[in-house]
Amino acid sequence: MARTMQTETPISTPRHVAIIMDGNGRWAKARGLPRTAGHKAGVERVREAVRTAAEAKIDYLTLFAFSSENWRRPEQEVSDLMGLLRFFIRKDLAELHRENVRVKVIGCRQSIQPDIRALLVDAEQRTRENTGITLVIAFNYGARDELVRAVRQIAEAVQSGKLEPESIDEAALSAHIDTAGIPDPDVVIRTSGEQRLSNFLLWQAAYSEFVFPSCLWPDFDRAAFHEALAEYARRDRRFGAVSAPDLAVCS
Ligand code: FPP
Repeated sequence: MARTMQTETPISTPRHVAIIMDGNGRWAKARGLPRTAGHKAGVERVREAVRTAAEAKIDYLTLFAFSSENWRRPEQEVSDLMGLLRFFIRKDLAELHRENVRVKVIGCRQSIQPDIRALLVDAEQRTRENTGITLVIAFNYGARDELVRAVRQIAEAVQSGKLEPESIDEAALSAHIDTAGIPDPDVVIRTSGEQRLSNFLLWQAAYSEFVFPSCLWPDFDRAAFHEALAEYARRDRRFGAVSAPDLAVCS
């Protein structure tokens, strides 16, 4: 069982797909190119992935664009990644908007350049009324940092008397993290064959399926995306319960 909502979308289509776009550097290295060439090729796949997800009637696509740990990369690579994000928002926002895509950004807004912060805020504001797919860009995002920020907000609410400690439950924490209002990812895809979560959506991925295609992100084309969705559709999600056929045998 992957989806219970009654829409025209097939039951096995995930509502929310989250992707760790890994392998840009290795893709470039294999071609004797600088790492930035891999990230540039990766941006092309970002465009294709948004289109593919929208066509597949996925409601939310979350892309891990820059982690809070990526600042540790060489200064030039960080600067190139910032440049690519700027370029993507400036060049693609109008088209995303035309295609009814709603943009949402998660991650820590502090410590990012003011012009990038402004671009991200503008992208969110201009597309906030759109009703198509929601593209969630995880930028300067780290799940532990997100949880720390949420706990701090909750502690402040308790300290100011707005919240009783007894009323802190899973829903309260979910309401304070960056993805508040967004359903948990049904599937997390990580390209390049690496099988780690790397501080991505630690809370939200508690019951997600994981798919690890071996191809590098710049090779993750439409067919590879559909293959990952097909792999997800073959999974039997139980959320801690037992599957329906097993239940029938038990009773
Ligand atoms: C991981 O590959 C990829 C990244 C750290 C950056 C991903 C960014 C993009 C695809 C472009 C910008 C995104 C948007 C939304 C415009 P890696 O460099 O770690 O690859 P490696 O493991 O092969 O070295």
